Amino acid sequence: MAPKTYKIAVIPGDGTGPEVIAEGLKVVKAAGKKFKFNIKTDTFKWGGENYLKTGEVLPADAVETLKKYDAIYLGAIGHPDVKPGILEKGILLKLRFELDQYINLRPVKLFPGVETPLANKGPEDIDYVVVRENTGDCYTGIGGVSQKGTKDEVAMQMMVYNRMQVERCLRYSFDLVLKRHSKKNPWKGLSKEDIKAGKVGQLTLCGKTNVLTYVYDLWERAFHEIGKEYPAVKLNYCHVDATCMWMVKNPEWFDVLVTGNMFGDIITDLGAMTQGGMGIAAGGNINPSSVSMFEPIGGSAPKYTGLGVINPLAAVLSGAMMLDTLGETKAAAAIEKSVAHVTGKKLKSLSAGKMGYSTSQVGDLVVDNL
Ligand code: IPM
Ligand code: MN
Repeated sequence: MAPKTYKIAVIPGDGTGPEVIAEGLKVVKAAGKKFKFNIKTDTFKWGGENYLKTGEVLPADAVETLKKYDAIYLGAIGHPDVKPGILEKGILLKLRFELDQYINLRPVKLFPGVETPLANKGPEDIDYVVVRENTGDCYTGIGGVSQKGTKDEVAMQMMVYNRMQVERCLRYSFDLVLKRHSKKNPWKGLSKEDIKAGKVGQLTLCGKTNVLTYVYDLWERAFHEIGKEYPAVKLNYCHVDATCMWMVKNPEWFDVLVTGNMFGDIITDLGAMTQGGMGIAAGGNINPSSVSMFEPIGGSAPKYTGLGVINPLAAVLSGAMMLDTLGETKAAAAIEKSVAHVTGKKLKSLSAGKMGYSTSQVGDLVVDNL
């Protein structure tokens, strides 16, 4: 059989985006050599720089163009000279919404050798996945303002969900628990009783049913109804404030955590810090039946642009997630293993400028250990 070729749309973006994406592509292509697939890329220079030059945030046919690819690989969008909101809404959120990438997958995993601010916690304690719903909530833009600029100004921004959005996100999350664990490989947080009862893993719904009695009631009812179809998954519920507490105090209590868009945005920054920071936090905007987009969670870090000091591992791991989603699971696992070797044995720190290696040397280290 001829080797598969994946067509990847690359949006390097602003600031240090292009530098980290270059390393991610280096690693993804090296994995392709080893595991016998090809990566073909086309680069789209959309972002703040382009907007300042041309006045265009995204060309009108951008979404249609991107639909022709197997995946999108994005560096970072954000420019200090562009007013906040324009690029975020005009590029990142627009693509997430118009490509209906309804899952934002954000693993929280402490790699070996990486320092965490959590006392007495190691890689065996910090290893869970947050599924952030990615199309609803306060992000739909529904709301408005009246009497703007007066002392009577009223502003509203609505938390919006429909049953379909909630259901598809929950089903993805339940399936993810089964993908992570099986009878042979149950989640280590389960008790003997859980295992006896046939559980293999746990799904936690993170909500706020004590205050958001419409939206998170919808989530909670759907969670329990769909949960019946997944007898091997243990159900757990946490309010979002308590979730933040446990993410710091007992991260080992989590396996897969599912939540709405707004809470998901907030708790994944917290999660990223517990796994060593933005330098290593990977993410994917996934439409399981169409084109998905992979990006490091961190921003464009403009002050480090061009210095070759930024940590590319978040981009590298996002690239691994891209391969995993494309079905190249062995290649993805090999990249993760290599990253674990690099963090465990090579890097002095994950922070920009303190790694002991340059951005491209870190990419080379990952390639060498593949
Ligand atoms: C993220 C970011 C975005 C979000 C911003 C840049 C719009 O914070 O990907 O988490 O809020 O989703
Ligand atoms: Mn965010």
